[in-house]
Parts: sequence; C-alpha cells; structure tokens
Amino acid sequence: MNKPRKVHVKSFGCQMNVYDSNRMADSLAGAGFSETAQAADADLVILNTCNIREKAVDKLYSEIGRMRELKEEAAAQGRQMLIAVAGCVAQAEGQEITRRAQAVDVVVGSQNYHRLPGMIARAQAGERIVDTEFPVEDRFDALAAPTREVIAKRGIAAFVTVQEGCDKFCTFCVVPYTRGAEVSRPVEKIATEVERLASAGVREVTLIGQNVNAYHGQGADGRPATLGQLLRRLSDVPGIVRLRYTTSHPCDMKDDLIAAHGDLPALMPYVHLPVQSGSDRMLAAMNRRHTRRDYLDVIARLRAVRSDLAFTSDFIVGFPGETEADFRATLTLLDEVGFACAYSFAYSPRPGTPAADMATQIPPEEQSERLQRLQAVINRQWRAFNASFIGRTVEVLLEKPGRLPGQLVGKTPYLQTVQVMARPELIGSLVPVAITDTGTNTLFGALAEGKTEMPALATAGA
Ligand code: SAH
Ligand code: SF4
Ligand code: F3S
Repeated sequence: MNKPRKVHVKSFGCQMNVYDSNRMADSLAGAGFSETAQAADADLVILNTCNIREKAVDKLYSEIGRMRELKEEAAAQGRQMLIAVAGCVAQAEGQEITRRAQAVDVVVGSQNYHRLPGMIARAQAGERIVDTEFPVEDRFDALAAPTREVIAKRGIAAFVTVQEGCDKFCTFCVVPYTRGAEVSRPVEKIATEVERLASAGVREVTLIGQNVNAYHGQGADGRPATLGQLLRRLSDVPGIVRLRYTTSHPCDMKDDLIAAHGDLPALMPYVHLPVQSGSDRMLAAMNRRHTRRDYLDVIARLRAVRSDLAFTSDFIVGFPGETEADFRATLTLLDEVGFACAYSFAYSPRPGTPAADMATQIPPEEQSERLQRLQAVINRQWRAFNASFIGRTVEVLLEKPGRLPGQLVGKTPYLQTVQVMARPELIGSLVPVAITDTGTNTLFGALAEGKTEMPALATAGA
C-alpha cells in the first residue's frame, strides 16, 4: 500500500477547467492521492491554467514562484513536493515552461491529463515530463470515475463536459489552438456519467463545452445527435431536476434546441449566448459568422417558445478598428435585448491569433473608457433584472448551507443565488421561495407555500 499523499489543484479559467481539475483529482485518487485545499500540505500541486486573456503567462510564472517556495520548504523537511502545470497555457507553452521554471516537474496539455498518474510516478523518480501532443485515445474513456463520496462532497450541482474544442476560429481567440478541433462525446457515455452523478445525489447538471450547442455526438442509433436530443435523453434520468448548458454560439442555435426550451420543464430558462459586439463591421472582423440581425433573430425565436427566458452574454470592447459608432452599436444591442447579466472584456491581443496582427489596435485608455461605459449599462440591466423578482415566488433548488446559522443557499431557474432560512434536510430540494429583497450578488427570500409563478421579465430598455 502506498503512503497516503495529497494533491492540491488550483483552477483558472472557464468551467471546462473546473471540470478537468475534478477529473484529474479523480484519476489521481486511484494512485493514492486525496485532495487538499492547502497547497502547503500537498505532495503534488497542479496549476490548471487559462490562456484566454493577456498576462496569463506572467501570472503562471508568479504562481510557480509561490509554489517553488513551498516546494523548497517541503524539501527542507525531507518531503518531496511535485509541481505540475496543466491546461491551456501548458498546451500553448509546452517545453518553454520546464525550460524557464526549474521547479516544474510535469507539463501536461489540455487533452492528456488522463495520463497524469503515470507521469507523476515517473516524476517522483526524478524525470521531468512535457506531454502536450493531442492524443489519439479518448481521454474520457481512460479516466477513472469519481466515487459516490467524492461526488457528494462536490455538491448537488455538477458540470459534465459533452463537447470540447472549437473549429470557429474567431480572430481574437486562442481556444481553437489550445483545445484543438471540435469533438463531441457519445450520448450514451454522457448519460452513464449523468446517471452515476444522479445516483450519488446530484440534482442539477450543466452540460459544458467551448461550443456546446455545436454538439454532434453519436446517438443510440449510431447517427450524430444534436444537443436538443441529448437534453431530451438526459431529462429522463431519474433524480435530475434541472439541466443547463453553456457556452453557446449564436450560429449553432438550431430549431430542435430552441424547441427543447419549450418542451422540457427540466431545461432551465437561461441561455448564455455570447455576442461580442453589436456592430456588423466588428462581427465580420472577429469572424463571428453572424450579424447583429442574426443574433436578434435567435433571441426572438427563443423567446417565442419561452417568454421568460433570461439571456446573458460576453462582450469584447476595443477590438482592433472599433470606432465610437461601432461601440454605440453594442450599447444599443444591449438595450434591444435586455440581458440578465453579462461579462465584458477589453480586447487583449493573443499571440498567434489573426487579430493580434491587425494594424488598428485601440489604445488601452480608450478601451477602458468604453469598458466602463459598457459595464454601467450591464450593471443597470442586471440590477433591474434582479429587482423584477421582488414580491414574486420562484422555484429554488437548495444547494448548501449559507453563512448564517439556519440559512441555506440555492439558485433560481435564472441562476441567481438566493439566501433563505430553511432546514438543512431541504438541501437538494426544489422549494417555492418568495423573494423579499436583493443584495449585491444575491436575492433574499422566505420559504413560501404552494405554487411558484414565472416572473414577467421585462428588462429590455431598462
Ligand atoms: N466559446 C465561448 C467563449 C470562450 S472564451 C464562445 O464562443 O462564446 C470566453 C470569452 O472570453 C469570450 O466570449 C470573449 O468574450 C472573451 N475573450 C476571448 N478571447 C478574448 C481576447 N483575446 N480578448 C478579450 N476577451 C476575449
Ligand atoms: Fe473562441 Fe470563437 Fe471558438 Fe468561442 S467560438 S471558443 S470565441 S473561437
Ligand atoms: Fe481559458 Fe482554456 Fe477555458 S484558455 S477559458 S481555460 S478553454
């Protein structure tokens, strides 16, 4: 029997990285590693990196610097601590990382972490390893499944990767390079994973992928299935009461996925649909493959099947060549749609992407001035959206204890956090909650009797 060892995984970036971090920990559990939240206690630290915006590389090296100190302290106590770098910066930088940072023992690309247990064993024997080739085997098949105890510890809401990689090549984005070509997992393998989660107490599943609605995994009949079909299959899994999916591309919002929003009660009325810009000129320069009109049409078609759908989005300001008129087109798009919330970023040139070489880069001061104006509108819409719930009763899935004694925290169908006084036995239940007030990041409510009502969402122009 090996001596018990501890692994600390630190995740940066998107939900796919969070999922990958969990799966790395699961596969290392078989090699005798249990998870620890403290890097200082760990025999192995994994930095699961993100490369989406600037300074990713600088951030990684300063993080490695901190870990190196812990590694030296451990060595002084006669204990070996290994440092592994995983994720999208590992994929992009490869060998450069072991060359620049002597403290790093293992560099594992975004597609190869199923091989981690073997790599760690070799690293313990003193080898330094870099593995960033895209593999031929299916990493999901090679990964160990988490135990019931581990699933239960992670809570009642889980992520499941159904699709990976991206073939869209937006001109600003590194994902097609760091995650490779688009690949979808077969329906039945996903269903088996979801059934396993459900039997260990998971009630809500979010299907994730860089381009999740481009999903085209093999169906039970051997033919490619759509995301709509996958959601229909998963809505039959006993115990799963809520389904979500993210992130979607406007071009892949096909009819049967839209129809699923009208037909499946478990499919939550919330869609994250990044648009990036409201200007057709910018959308073309970004190679987004859709116009402003196309985006508004998709929103209208979704709202036609489910009027209470809430939308969130991602925006980039200060993309090369963006004029004040282009930027205003983004502001008017926000007014036209009325978002529940949105993420916004100043354009950041990524080495190797076409936009990084465009001549008309926007000065940082201009970018941040636009970003502030955009965020003011987003915040106003977000507050209006939350305020529209006061006085209404909504269905809340209770997830975990809150900060105050006797309090639980849950989510509305629209992914808002709600704090409510309720007994701990209710964790995992769907309960009606009367919303009484809003805070900065949360709604407050009280358990209510009887039925929930759908709020009439009217945030457009708010
Ligand atoms: N696959 C998703 C998003 C991936 S990245 C999609 O297509 O929507 C998440 C968000 O980061 C993007 O939507 C975009 O708004 C932002 N982003 C990506 N690259 C960026 C860059 N170079 N500079 C600034 N923001 C960027
Ligand atoms: Fe990046 Fe565009 Fe692919 Fe999204 S669709 S991951 S933004 S290239
Ligand atoms: Fe970042 Fe890679 Fe996700 S670059 S956003 S961790 S796909």
